[in-house]
Parts: sequence; C-alpha cells; structure tokens
Amino acid sequence: MADRAKPDRIPDPQDSLIVLSGCGTSGRLAFFITSGFNRELRRLNQGAICLYIIAGGDRALFSSQEAPEDDPILGSLSLRKVSEGKKRVLFIGISCGLSAPFVAGQLDVCLQHPDVYTPVLIGFNPAHQARKEPIPGCTFTFHSVVERMQELSKMQKAFLINPALGPEAISGSSRMKGGSATKILLEVVFSAAHAANSSRTPILYKYRMKSYKQALDVTYSQAEGIAALMEAAGHSLQCGRRVCYLGWGSLGLLGLIDASECKPTFGADYEDIRGFVSGGYKELGNKEGDLNLMGCEFGITHDDFLNSVLPCLTDKDMVLLLYSHSGNQWELSTKLLLNAVSTGAHIFKGKVYQNYMIDLQVTNSKLYHRATRLLQTLSGRSESQCEEALLKAIYQVDKLTEDMMTCHLKTHTDAAGKGEKVVPLALVCLLTGCSVKEAKSLLERKAIIREAVEECLLKYTSSKGLKETRESEDKKLREAGSLMM
Ligand code: F6P
Repeated sequence: MADRAKPDRIPDPQDSLIVLSGCGTSGRLAFFITSGFNRELRRLNQGAICLYIIAGGDRALFSSQEAPEDDPILGSLSLRKVSEGKKRVLFIGISCGLSAPFVAGQLDVCLQHPDVYTPVLIGFNPAHQARKEPIPGCTFTFHSVVERMQELSKMQKAFLINPALGPEAISGSSRMKGGSATKILLEVVFSAAHAANSSRTPILYKYRMKSYKQALDVTYSQAEGIAALMEAAGHSLQCGRRVCYLGWGSLGLLGLIDASECKPTFGADYEDIRGFVSGGYKELGNKEGDLNLMGCEFGITHDDFLNSVLPCLTDKDMVLLLYSHSGNQWELSTKLLLNAVSTGAHIFKGKVYQNYMIDLQVTNSKLYHRATRLLQTLSGRSESQCEEALLKAIYQVDKLTEDMMTCHLKTHTDAAGKGEKVVPLALVCLLTGCSVKEAKSLLERKAIIREAVEECLLKYTSSKGLKETRESEDKKLREAGSLMM
C-alpha cells in the first residue's frame, strides 16, 4: 500500500463505489468484508461506499448455490446494475482458483470501460494456471481476462493480487486456506487504505500481518483441543446427528459461512452442520433483508434454533457457541477452528478419501470437471470413460441416450443437483464394472462411503496391478497445479 501520491479522501459515495464480488465462500467473504468496512465508515460518520455481489444473490450467503458461478452474463449485469450512474468504480473480483466465469464476466465489463472501472483480481493460483476452458457464449476465458489484466497492470490500470498459497489440505477446498488468505488480504488493504485516508499519508502496513501470525500460532497451539472438537463433531455426524454453531456478531457470521460450504464440498445436508446468529438478518444487514420465507434452511436466528432445533437435540448432537468479549480479534482464529471442525467431522464421516472430497456435489462446470479428474485419478481410466461413468451416475442409467450425451453441460449439472452420491456411484461402477443399481446397493450396504470406495479400489488395484499407475497419475495431477479448481 505504500504509494507515491498523496491519498485522496474517501470519494463521495454519490459518484464512486467499491464493489467486492465472488462466488460461494469468496462471495460470502466479500459480504463479510464490506459489512465490516461500512460499519467502520458509519461509525466515523462517513457514507458507506462499499457493496458486495455474490453469485446467486443473498440466498447464496447462507446456502449452497453453485450454478450461478457459471454465468458471466449474470455477473456482468449485476455489476452494471450496482454501478449505474457512478463515475468511478473500484471493482475487486475474488476467485481463489482464478476460475469463476461469473467473475470473469465482471472483469470483462471493467476492461471494456476503463474510464469508469479499475479492476482488481484476487486469487491464489499462478496467472498461467487461470482457467482456460471456453465459457459458452463468450469470446473470453478466465485466462484471457487475466492476460488482459496483466497487460493493464503494467500501467497500474488493473491489479492482480495472486500470492501462491500452494494446494489446499483437501484438494480444491478453497474455503480453507484460500478463504483465510482472502480475508487477510482484504482486511489489510482496506484498513491500510482507511488509515492512509485518515492521516493523508501513505501507509506501510506491516504490523497487522504480525497479528495474523500471532492468531495462527495461538490457534494451533491448541491443537489437542481442536482435535477433540473435530472428533466430537465427527461422532455427531457419524451417528446421523448434527453440529450447530450458535454465534454472536462477526464470529456468528463466520459460523454461517463455514456451515454453508459443507453441502457442495462433502455432499452434506444443510442440517448436518448449521449456523445461527444472534439478531439474524437485521444484525447482518444483507441487501435483500429477511430471507426466512425462502425455506427452513434460511432460519438463521437464535430463535430459529430455540424453536426448531433445541427441542430435538440429544446428547449426540454438538452445539458450539461462538462469541468473544474482545471485538473481532478472534475472527481468523474462529475461521481456522471452524474449518478444521467441519472438515475433520466430514473426514470422520468418511466423506474424504486421501485428500479428495469423494462425495462432492457436481453442481457447476468447475465441479463437473473436478469430479471427472478425480475419477480419472482414482480409477486410472481415460477422461472419456470417466465422463461417461459420471453421466450414467447423474442420470442413473446404464446406457446413455443420444440426448444425454449431447445436451449442454448445464443440463448435466442441474440433474446432478437432484441426485445423491453421484461421484461415489460413478467410481464404483468404473472400478467394478457393475450396473448403477448394483453400485447403489453396494453403497447403501456400507454406511461409510470412504470404506466402500477403499474396498473397491483394493479389489480393483490388486486384481489389475494398477496401484502404481494410479499413484503416479495422482502425483502428476498434484504437480501439474490447478490447485484450487
Ligand atoms: O463451485 C463451488 C466452489 O468451489 C465453492 O465451494 C467456493 O467457495 C467457490 O466455488 C468459489 O471458488 P473461487 O473462489 O475459486 O471462484
């Protein structure tokens, strides 16, 4: 943030705007950061200048809505709408894997109108690993957008912030390291900008990084306690019970964020891990207000917990209280802890094999391709064989019709959203050569998906001597990068 020029005062919200946007956890963190920053501005009697956009609208703040991530037009329209009449817009797109078409569409708008927009992109893959896959109906890919940004960044007309974080502990689960890094980066940039604006001098912001390091050290010095919590949460899920986060303030919001991501990552039900926050929508101040009418999963207040959850709690459920007496100092620590608890609990439940999410939902194009790659890695079969198996599992058939094979990928991901255990089904079919029906009954017999998968893999690799092939494929994939897609 050290700048040569004297910083201007925070611009007039009438003319100017800062927009943060992203999909899934990246959009939720956009909301988290804008809420905090605007709250601080209001405290100083300044106008709120920051807005968030999340793919799928506010319902995506608290529930899994993966399909809108694929829609660049939706992204560009939502950006145009919020910036109507503004003279200057600082747009910050967040896509940990440099991959979301929704964000690419928004960056494209910015690049077409440099007189109004200054685009910033935050992500954690190297630029050359940005997603190259064509986006239907568009002339650009995420990668080509990144290249245009890189060109403009030479004149400081665009900014690409993409420090390398390395792979996630669970491959592709960017809600963890990627999410934490997003939070840290944005907080540092926003508070430095704020401090520079107040003091009207450029700011070098080193001390804040130290406090994050301290938060990490303090958190992981409690490794034993965290492990005990993970185990307890795992036991709850293993016996079909639930984990609830009952929170206050920003820590409560972090609970909601953590819980909402379990569905696409682990194929979880929204009731498995669920967050509640004191004051609900009123306290959160989200754009669309109270979403309660959208269904049970949008009941997020403590009253909802008291009315619909408390009466059926048993000693097999786990309720974690999230609060702090010292403001937001514990946010990072809480995020790390919750990520560990929810991930650990699903590992206990058998939703992870090695470091792969074997029961992910296949509800957008990125997840579809991730699932196909995962099947390749675990079965050693070709891409086309794996895609065919995936489609059979999605449509629950042993023979694909012409229509199924030729329709748009969106039709596949819509259908996949209605199914269960799609990826494990495809894998069992691939490894054993059995029918979808047989694979289904095999999975039903085994309560733990990882065990069913392990059993099939063991039989398959020992009968075909393919263990080595799989391991080397696995290694190649990891080394090849695309760490977060
Ligand atoms: O598509 C689902 C998902 O992987 C979410 O789990 C995640 O939060 C979101 O995409 C965002 O990904 P990215 O930040 O890479 O665009």
